Amino acid sequence: MEQALGLVPEWAAGWANLGRYREELGDLVGAVEAWRRSAGLDAEGVYGAALKLVAHGVETTAPAGIYVEVLFDDYAARFEKSLIDRLGYAVPRDLMVLLRGYGLGGGTALDLGCGTGLMGQQLRNAVRRLEGVDLSEAMLAEARRKAVYDRLVKANLFDFLAVAEPAAVVTATDVLNYTGPLPPVLQAVHRVLEPRGLFGFSLELHDGPEAVKLRSSLRYAHGREAALSACWAAGFEVADERHTVIRQDRGVPVAGLLVVARKA
Ligand SMILES: C[S@@+](CC[C@H](N)C(=O)[O-])C[C@H]1O[C@@H](n2cnc3c(N)ncnc32)[C@H](O)[C@@H]1O
Repeated sequence: MEQALGLVPEWAAGWANLGRYREELGDLVGAVEAWRRSAGLDAEGVYGAALKLVAHGVETTAPAGIYVEVLFDDYAARFEKSLIDRLGYAVPRDLMVLLRGYGLGGGTALDLGCGTGLMGQQLRNAVRRLEGVDLSEAMLAEARRKAVYDRLVKANLFDFLAVAEPAAVVTATDVLNYTGPLPPVLQAVHRVLEPRGLFGFSLELHDGPEAVKLRSSLRYAHGREAALSACWAAGFEVADERHTVIRQDRGVPVAGLLVVARKA
């Protein structure tokens, strides 16, 4: 890769990959240098190098980029096979078991970061109307094929929530680990929920003192205490919370939390 970059030094994706290779080898100084080169060449933030600098504590913020959208556009066709067959992903099914215990009431459900529609399949028969939103057009195309949503929208979930009709249930499975701090999401969801409405979501958990931190995987992990406090502060009561394994990552279980929060 170093030789290739000697020939094409303006190759943003190449620098991002070189950073990852050096990271794997334990050469963090070299990795940071490569990610800086990549970030400088990648105005749209496609390759995630600016996020890598944040994850390694070199920068405190990264410009908003399209890394997540591009990641899932690339991943969409093999998403379900990879996640369910190989990585043991069962969050939508497990969250649905919890949600059923609180009565879904047959109203409208909004599925944030709906992806290929795995949560939608769970919700379909329990609600009257089902809407999904996602950043990735390729993920939405897979969801469309399932024909379980009444409406699918390509948008950032924050923009979607700002204009959404009132809903009885909102879900976000394996999504809030891409959006970061919880309070803005909780406030936006609280605004659209009907009184006593439910917000079911999953989080990746970490054990440290931080409310949220960006991991080298470029997914955010949350602290349990801070997450529950954020729910209360946003006007929710925490009806249920369960420790779980979100998925395997390189053979290691990723610890997580399922939460059912009810608008107080
Ligand atoms: C790991 S997938 C999970 C999909 C689905 N919820 C499930 O459980 O199978 C994460 C999805 O969240 C979407 N996503 C991430 N950040 C988002 C945002 N800010 N607004 C809308 N969708 C987002 C991604 O495009 C991706 O499809």
